Amino acid sequence: MEGKRLKIAVLSGAGISAESGIQTFRDSDGLWENYRVEDVCTPEALERNPELVIGFYNQRLAQVLKAQPNSAHRALVRLEEKYEVDIITQNIDDLHERAGSTRVLHLHGDIRKKRSQADPLDIRDIEPLAQGIRMGDLDRFGMQYRPHIVFFGEAVPNIEPASRLVEAADIVVIIGTSLQVYPAAGLMYYAAPDAPIYYIDPKADEAKGLDKRVVCIAEKAGKGVPEWVDRMLDSAR
Ligand code: APR
Repeated sequence: MEGKRLKIAVLSGAGISAESGIQTFRDSDGLWENYRVEDVCTPEALERNPELVIGFYNQRLAQVLKAQPNSAHRALVRLEEKYEVDIITQNIDDLHERAGSTRVLHLHGDIRKKRSQADPLDIRDIEPLAQGIRMGDLDRFGMQYRPHIVFFGEAVPNIEPASRLVEAADIVVIIGTSLQVYPAAGLMYYAAPDAPIYYIDPKADEAKGLDKRVVCIAEKAGKGVPEWVDRMLDSAR
C-alpha cells in the first residue's frame, strides 16, 4: 500500500514563463518598462480608456498563444508521479495547464477569459481566442466585457484558498517571482513551521528579508526546476 503522498505547493511567477518567450514585468526588458501600470492595469484605466486596456491584454493573449510550455512547466507535471502538487500561479498564461498540471490556481486572473463588469460571476472563455476580446462584445447588461485579470487595486479572490493550500503543504517551492506584489508575495509565510521552502530564481540569492529557512537556488527555471524535481522524485522513492 503506497504511503500518503506528500503535498507540494508551487508558487510561480512570470519568471517560469520567461524561457517560453513571455515577457516578465520587472526585468530589464520587462512589461512595466514599456507601459505604465496606471494606463493599462487599473480599474480607472479600464473606465478611462477601455480600448487601450483591452488592446493591451489582447496583445498579451497573442504572446501567450505563440508560446509553448518549457522544461520547468513540464518538470512540475512529472512531480505529480510521487506528490500531490498544487500550482498557485501569479501568471495569467495557461502554460502550466498546457504542460499537463492538473491543479492550477490563478491568483491574478486568466488571459483566456473575459468577465462582465457588472456580474463578477459571469466569466467566459474568449472565443475565438485568436481574436481576443472585441470592442462591442457586451454582457447581458449591455456593458463591455473586460479581461478576467486582477488589476492593481483590485481584490485577489483566490488568495484565501491559496493560503489554505500553502498551509497544508509539506513542501513549498517558489519559482520565478520577484516577490514584490502582495498578497501573493506573502503566501510563503503561511508555510507550516517544519515545511522546507525552496526559491528557484536567477536572483534568488539577492532577495532581501527572506525567512532564513528558505533554500535559494539561483538558476533559471528551465534548468533549476527539472534538476530540483529530479532530486524530489529520487528522495520520494
Ligand atoms: N527563470 C526563472 N526566473 C526568472 C527567469 C528565468 N528564466 N527570468 C527572470 N526570472 C525572475 C526574475 O529574477 C524575477 O525575480 O522572474 C522574476 C520576475 O519578476 P516580475 O517581473 O516582478 O514578475 P512577478 O513576480 O511574477 O510579478 C508579480 O506583478 O505586475 C504584476 O500581476 C503582475 O503577476 C504579476 C505580479
